[in-house]
Amino acid sequence: MQRRTFLRTSIAAGLVGAGGTALAPRLLDAAPHRRPRGPIRLSSNENPLGISPLARQAIIDQMGDANRYPRGRGELIEALTTKHGMPAETFVIGAGSTEVLKMAVQALAAPSGTLVLAYPTYEDAPWYAGPFDIRQEEVPLLPDGAHDLERMQEAATAAHGTVLVYLCNPNNPTGTLTPSADVDAWIESAPENTYFLVDEAYYDYVRDTRYWSALKWVPDRPNVIVARTFSKVYGMAGIRLGYAITHPETAARVRRLRVRNNANHFAIVAGLASLRDPDFVRQSLDVNERGKAILYRCLDELGLAYVPSHTNFVMHRISGELQAYSRRMREMGIWVGRPFPPMLDHCRLSIGTPAEMEAFAEVLRSFRQEGWV
Ligand SMILES: Cc1ncc(COP(=O)(O)O)c(C=O)c1O
Repeated sequence: MQRRTFLRTSIAAGLVGAGGTALAPRLLDAAPHRRPRGPIRLSSNENPLGISPLARQAIIDQMGDANRYPRGRGELIEALTTKHGMPAETFVIGAGSTEVLKMAVQALAAPSGTLVLAYPTYEDAPWYAGPFDIRQEEVPLLPDGAHDLERMQEAATAAHGTVLVYLCNPNNPTGTLTPSADVDAWIESAPENTYFLVDEAYYDYVRDTRYWSALKWVPDRPNVIVARTFSKVYGMAGIRLGYAITHPETAARVRRLRVRNNANHFAIVAGLASLRDPDFVRQSLDVNERGKAILYRCLDELGLAYVPSHTNFVMHRISGELQAYSRRMREMGIWVGRPFPPMLDHCRLSIGTPAEMEAFAEVLRSFRQEGWV
């Protein structure tokens, strides 16, 4: 893949250093609210604000029911039908959207279908295909980071039997978009045995008119499944709640593979409360934009190229070895993203609070002074 061609390159500007490893105490001062909770975690695309105050209160209020089996699933689905304007039978609840990916891959592509996906993309769909005899066709992203839908379509057409196309839009780990009009054109012309699993985990972060949800296909096309999560903009990654929206026919097939009571009681009540707190979503998006701007400014200043992102993480260039870079960051109290082959000269950085991003920027500048990036 000619990945460099899609990376934005900026010109190295003046470098402001800040003193190597001696920086650690100052780094922590720059983000005092993190101190009791340990490192600055910019590794897993989490919401640095935590969960909505309403969700927190709902969990506390329900703590006395921890000994009871979960209730409220129907109420949660009702709230989701209001949010999305889709009937209850189209929803499949999961313990995180990763469970939804698992159910969809295994219900639709197993035992011997073909999974067509981008490279690099989020690793869970191929992981869940692993135990089965599912063929995997990886197609490199285009130079601008979009899915190469033409080549993916060729791979799908050449396959025999059921095909499951995994489209992570926006894509993780690159943060890039695939224009929804192009996705629509393929869905429109696809045969019935080509399923589309459209992972919209980062849907809420996108502000681009070329992007919209694949939800509009759900009423008429049983071959489209949309996955959503409460882990990102609602900050519930540790609580585990996600869902699929798909045609009732497909929902019934996918649902058969779920674990009963998969969403625990606190996930359900916190999810419900989160849906009633649009202010928290707005605040999360605002903090993300401000944090991203701080990161972009620092990367521009240091002349480190990055992939402009539509999400809460940014893939940026490092010079030198990723493992050594991650280790040094960890020594400074900062966790950065894991390696994403083939982009091993890049690091995926999740966006933290503005204070955390200022702290990160200060460390990155000090790394430049040391000659490490
Ligand atoms: C694209 C994508 N899909 C799904 C997930 C899984 O999210 P969860 O299981 O927390 O809902 C992630 C997590 O980072 C992701 O990046």
